[in-house]
Amino acid sequence: MDDILKLFASRRLKPNHIVSQWYMYLDDIQKQVEFLYNSLECEKLMFLGDGDGISIMLALTLAKNKSKKLKQIFVFDIDERELNLYKNLAKENGVSEYVDFQTIRYNIFDKVPSKFLNKFDAFYINPPYSSTTQPKGLGFLLWLERCIEMTKRDAKGYIVYPTKDNDQIAINEIGKTIFQYLEENHFNVLQNPAPISHRYEETDCISENLIVEKTKNTSAHYKGKKIPFEIANSLYHNKLLPHYILDDGTTYGSPVDF
Ligand SMILES: C[S@@+](CC[C@H](N)C(=O)[O-])C[C@H]1O[C@@H](n2cnc3c(N)ncnc32)[C@H](O)[C@@H]1O
Repeated sequence: MDDILKLFASRRLKPNHIVSQWYMYLDDIQKQVEFLYNSLECEKLMFLGDGDGISIMLALTLAKNKSKKLKQIFVFDIDERELNLYKNLAKENGVSEYVDFQTIRYNIFDKVPSKFLNKFDAFYINPPYSSTTQPKGLGFLLWLERCIEMTKRDAKGYIVYPTKDNDQIAINEIGKTIFQYLEENHFNVLQNPAPISHRYEETDCISENLIVEKTKNTSAHYKGKKIPFEIANSLYHNKLLPHYILDDGTTYGSPVDF
């Protein structure tokens, strides 16, 4: 294990399943970060949800290689525990000399703050897989909606999506939902699959990378609006959606209601 991965492994949190956190295995995180480090061609990259820590691992890799090839990495997440961990790791390791790394507490059901509209030229998502929602794969649609708002025209998207699991019928339906949405919303598919797959702790699911690009006709349906609450309930298996997870020093953090 290299030094960066060792450091991350020693500080890693416990996944909070209330907000669909199922963490990627460490060796697959390493492969994923190497893949992004070598293939990313953008200045301003956003992560919408990142329990796997790919964002901070990428920032630490830029610092280790003294690379200034990315200007900004912004991480948006509902879970303050993750954001605080990444912020601390960035500070302790002098990341700011190489990349502007910022963490923002954000729940995708809220409006996007105006300062983040059309800001980024690439996004990375690994949303809730939503195998029980209607349609299956709803998490991808909502996450993509917000990424459309936050990125510039022609932005690239790195989407991690499930390709194998015990319920292969559900997985195939999720794939269908994603590709239909991408087509209807005028994304170009640039690479599918990109040559990495990922495994996760506590589940048999396997995911792969899909790289897409916005076009001039790509537009969001919830622009400047909240996403309706009925959708929120369905996304989290009809359990109450927390507004955010408070980093209060407990193992899983405390859910804070809307
Ligand atoms: C949904 S999980 C997907 C599985 C992934 N392997 C992981 O654990 O990160 C991705 C991230 O999205 C965050 N997340 C879940 N619901 C969210 C919401 N409503 N708004 C913003 N982030 C959310 C989780 O905290 C987690 O960090």
